[in-house]
Amino acid sequence: MRILFATSECVPFAKTGGLADVCGSLPKHIARLGHHVFVFMPNYQSVKNSGMPLTSPGIEFEIPIGTNLVPGQLLQTRIPQSSVPVYLVDQPKYFERAGLYQNPDGTDYEDNCERFVFFCRALFESIRALDLKVDLIHCNDWQTGLIPAILSTEYASVPRFESTSTLMTIHNLAYQGLFWHWDMLLTGMDWKHFNWKEMEFYGQLNLLKTGIVFADAVSTVSPNYALEIQTGENGCGLENTLQHRRANLSGILNGIDESWNPATDTRIKANYDLSNWKIQKPKCKWALQKQLAIDESNVPLIGLVGRMAEQKGWSLILEILRHWLEAIDVQWAILGTGHQHFEKELQNLAARFPHKLGLHLGFDESLARQIEAGADLFLMPSQYEPCGLNQMYSMRYGTVPVVHKVGGLADTVCNVSERSIADGTANGFVFEGYSAENLESALARAIQVYLREPGTWEQIVETGMSQDFSWRKSASDYANLYERIVATRKVEKQQFA
Ligand code: ADP
Ligand code: GLC
Repeated sequence: MRILFATSECVPFAKTGGLADVCGSLPKHIARLGHHVFVFMPNYQSVKNSGMPLTSPGIEFEIPIGTNLVPGQLLQTRIPQSSVPVYLVDQPKYFERAGLYQNPDGTDYEDNCERFVFFCRALFESIRALDLKVDLIHCNDWQTGLIPAILSTEYASVPRFESTSTLMTIHNLAYQGLFWHWDMLLTGMDWKHFNWKEMEFYGQLNLLKTGIVFADAVSTVSPNYALEIQTGENGCGLENTLQHRRANLSGILNGIDESWNPATDTRIKANYDLSNWKIQKPKCKWALQKQLAIDESNVPLIGLVGRMAEQKGWSLILEILRHWLEAIDVQWAILGTGHQHFEKELQNLAARFPHKLGLHLGFDESLARQIEAGADLFLMPSQYEPCGLNQMYSMRYGTVPVVHKVGGLADTVCNVSERSIADGTANGFVFEGYSAENLESALARAIQVYLREPGTWEQIVETGMSQDFSWRKSASDYANLYERIVATRKVEKQQFA
């Protein structure tokens, strides 16, 4: 099959979160299964820092945006350690900016709709110009939601695209690409589609809903999240739309890239695997303590890496920190960037407790890896979590996760209990009910085991380290899903012929 990945992020070219990790890794694994894979993404400013060579396939286009024609061109590179081509949609006025979606003050760029309409339409022009035959376009998140709609309306009877299917993957339902209704004019779609069953959502244009409605199939990044989003509690207002699509809605757990491996990671102090982690991992802990200028002590070190958004549970974490930093003898290694009120309060706490709380505000992939390797525990008390990669990275690095039982966290972390210890499945601490008290008791339980039951702790660490979180299974699940979608479309076409 010939699969085109449409994404707004892809490691190592542009990243704000896990979407980039997935789109930098899954295409390689699909290619290894023998399929032809292409990635399309915007040519952001950050692409230059990837160190990958850029070439020009000599393709230029003019894209209708409302009543204007906006020129652009295509550049080309590839995913490192692979031959998967990455096509970069280039238009400096949209993409040559410091951030991917936001101004430095955290507000969204005002022209986000226009930027991604341009991207989606440029993709069709590029397919034509490159003379690509594509069996399936794998769309990711709201930025690509217009693609299935354009394909099934304007391009429905264009021969090149007649047998092209679409899969819409939801990485995070909370980000829907909502814009005021007049932005319909930018999309170039007929106003007749601005109705509650298609592109409209409480008077606004909703690009994720558009993708969900028009795609041949919809998927999410864990089986549990696929169920959760069909409920009022987690459906973010789209639960009915998703229920309507349930026959074609599935969840496939993300894998993790092989570069996340403590045995080979060049950015951590000491490499280790199952055979020597007890000697080597402490070296990573000491290096991390030094790096963050906290005391070099043997107390449990709790790691946290993530976007500072409400989703990730920062309110609960702060509630605990305020009290624990005074009273409990553990250390914290925190890396993140995001909402100013979280950043400010963390800064204040770090200033008051510099020997216990190591804080770095910013985006730093090396430090993220050093925390995964150097911490003893990794905290992820997310309010909701479509999949979550950090808990899998931490288990791979022998760092025991403490998580809220939700979404992909529930699918990947098996709570420590008498039973799970006995049958060898325990790999972390899980709490139910999103509250600081529940998080606190799970954390206290984890620390008790760490301090008082070293044999049990070793078992939990080793269970996590030996689990297979690779893309092996998930990539073949995606390939099977692609095949089913393409086959169903063929049958439908024959029936209508
Ligand atoms: P999400 O996509 O919701 O942010 P995931 O757990 O799926 O959550 O993925 C987050 C990814 O982003 C991980 O690779 C994590 O290490 C990385 N990350 C998040 N914040 C930072 C940061 N401040 N510095 C470096 N890496 C970060
Ligand atoms: C989203 C989700 C996260 C998921 C990632 C990659 O950003 O918040 O849970 O792991 O996408 O699919």
